[in-house]
Amino acid sequence: MVVPEKDNIRLRELRPADKPRLAQLANNKKIWDNVRDFFPFPCLKKNAIDFIAICNKEDPKVTFAIEYQGDLTGVAGLVLQTDIYRKSAEIGYWVGEPYWNKGIATSAVILLINYGFEKLTLERIFTGVFEHNKASQRILEKCGFIHEGIFKNAIIKNNRVLDEYRYGITKNQHKAL
Ligand SMILES: CC(C)(COP(=O)(O)OP(=O)(O)OC[C@H]1O[C@@H](n2cnc3c(N)ncnc32)[C@H](O)[C@@H]1OP(=O)(O)O)[C@@H](O)C(=O)NCCC(=O)NCCS
Repeated sequence: MVVPEKDNIRLRELRPADKPRLAQLANNKKIWDNVRDFFPFPCLKKNAIDFIAICNKEDPKVTFAIEYQGDLTGVAGLVLQTDIYRKSAEIGYWVGEPYWNKGIATSAVILLINYGFEKLTLERIFTGVFEHNKASQRILEKCGFIHEGIFKNAIIKNNRVLDEYRYGITKNQHKAL
């Protein structure tokens, strides 16, 4: 295991055996409505198999299963940036609906940013959240991210133009928490 445990929540590598549950949890329009369009919907077992195979090839590991009390509940990951942005990463996460509002995503984000700053020696972690996604904005604020601004009309999702709320945290801001 690469990332330590917190509040019965741990981040671990995705395994081929996760395929059916991963597809079942991910196959939810309420999740798809808050993520990028490349996230498959409907999410089939084949999509889960392909996703797990890609994650298993990562070096360094940046995508993890979120496990709560031994159950697979979702996925959290970092997208490492390149060139002059190579000390930055974008964070992304989702939790299956049966597990919402138990603090799982919050703990997963804390574990993942610890890993990003300590093990991957990142300087900055950031993300963009759809304007209506108040739960995700709350998670980021609880984890110490700064609301850095609003990118007006940056997103089109479900044929609606939306603002993107941008959040970021630096290694030093994280250390000071
Ligand atoms: C957003 C998501 C990750 C939340 O996961 P979770 O495990 O339920 O999150 P947590 O329990 O750690 O925290 C949710 C927080 O948002 C709050 N919240 C939930 N719904 C809310 C709403 N409609 N308005 C305001 N706050 C809300 C909760 O009360 C909680 O805050 P609290 O601890 O202060 O009470 C999950 O709903 C999800 O996967 N959604 C679809 C995908 C997605 O949005 N991914 C993030 C893209 S940026």
